[in-house]
Amino acid sequence: MKSNMTSPFSQNGVPTLAILGAGSRGGRYGEYVAEHPEVGKVVAVAEPREPQRTATARLHGIPEANVFADERDLLAQPRLADAVIIATTERRHEWAAVRAAELGYHILIEKPMASTVEECIRITNAARDNKVLLTVCHVLRYAPFYRKVKELLDEGRIGDLCAVQYLEGIAWWHYAHAFVRGNFANEARSSFLLLAKCCHDTDMLRWWVGKPCRRVASFGHLKHFRAENKPAQAADRCLDCVLADGDCPYSAKTFYFDRLRQGMWGWPLAVVVDEFTESALEAALRTGPYGKCVYACDNDVMDSQHVALEFDGNVSVSLTLSAFTPHGRRVRLMGSRGYLEGDGKILRWLDFLSGEEQTYDVNREVEDAAGGHGGGDSGLMRAFLAALQAGNADLIATGPEVSLESHLIAFAAERARREGRVVDLHEMGKGRWK
Ligand SMILES: NC(=O)c1ccc[n+]([C@@H]2O[C@H](COP(=O)([O-])OP(=O)(O)OC[C@H]3O[C@@H](n4cnc5c(N)ncnc54)[C@H](O)[C@@H]3O)[C@@H](O)[C@H]2O)c1
Repeated sequence: MKSNMTSPFSQNGVPTLAILGAGSRGGRYGEYVAEHPEVGKVVAVAEPREPQRTATARLHGIPEANVFADERDLLAQPRLADAVIIATTERRHEWAAVRAAELGYHILIEKPMASTVEECIRITNAARDNKVLLTVCHVLRYAPFYRKVKELLDEGRIGDLCAVQYLEGIAWWHYAHAFVRGNFANEARSSFLLLAKCCHDTDMLRWWVGKPCRRVASFGHLKHFRAENKPAQAADRCLDCVLADGDCPYSAKTFYFDRLRQGMWGWPLAVVVDEFTESALEAALRTGPYGKCVYACDNDVMDSQHVALEFDGNVSVSLTLSAFTPHGRRVRLMGSRGYLEGDGKILRWLDFLSGEEQTYDVNREVEDAAGGHGGGDSGLMRAFLAALQAGNADLIATGPEVSLESHLIAFAAERARREGRVVDLHEMGKGRWK
């Protein structure tokens, strides 16, 4: 037994799991387990929405006594499984994670860990004090593209890393779905955009640079998705709008009906309807949040933000997140002897001395890279379940302290944006969780 884990798990060596929140993410992790019965078994679920709860119970053959409508009821029981997957939205995370740790559950927790610094620290401390494994779903650490970058950096292929330019391109349609109309549009209901979307990226930067972040500055705005930008002819709902059939890039009518007709029934359509019929979609767009005009929602998170980061060793980084892009991340890493550039799939390397160039089609080289987050979702589950089975926390790349540090960078950057100043990471209470 290594690191901070307590005892091994189920009698037969296959770890058992309880899912808290069988929505998009909880459902995805559940599917992975169902497809790989040799590495895990879901034995309990808590989910308020009946269709998702029943579907999850059926998929895994969960006994009725272990099916709950609320995580509080599940966590009021004695421990039902070796581990919990906390896949509710982040405002619910702290109570559930602390309670689960006290009950002795090992924990896989969606990012962000929580929506305040204090909550993140309490979760980290609860895991440490109760000696349970806590893994944050920073899935990019398990995705082949990002691992390849790390491998080339560690091999010294670009010499000394001097600077990084990093774009998190959310995509106009993804942003409209999740951050204007959806779960993550309003900070009071979820968290600020940099934390919700980019704690992955601050994590990646910390990992690639390999040294602590020293200080940050940031500018950002909710520039476009505001009431004053609503065209005069636009209606409050896309189904009533004269612009919805070809004159608006954010038309919910076009976007969701196209997906329905093309049989693209996974995320994000599955967030909007439980039943994939035209009448169900029409009803959802008439009454639910996903049918609203993007200029008539209660969104308040940024649509563009820039962060300047200085790491130990004088590595300078710029991180940009934007709604107004195609989908995907773009990175450039600049070293003393070479250069790397990539888009999450293809990675290009240039050596300054020899002029040699190499292109890595990372997704082609790796079997499961087509999975969610460029193979990161399945990589994370593989690592988490292997760590549980072996009782070895070292198999996890995203333990609590490492992930907390990535979150603190995002909190610091947001403080820098709000207060219009440079924020030193020491201000963020680094060390309080040790
Ligand atoms: N790792 C990643 O790359 C990634 C990607 C997307 C989202 N996320 C994060 O995953 C989390 C979940 O996001 P999502 O898109 O799956 O949201 P979701 O709304 O689809 O899922 C959350 C689920 O929690 C359920 N829930 C609400 N109250 C509950 C309660 N009392 N007990 C049990 N369940 C309850 C909801 O009914 C819902 O099904 C968020 O924190 C989000 O930021 C992570």
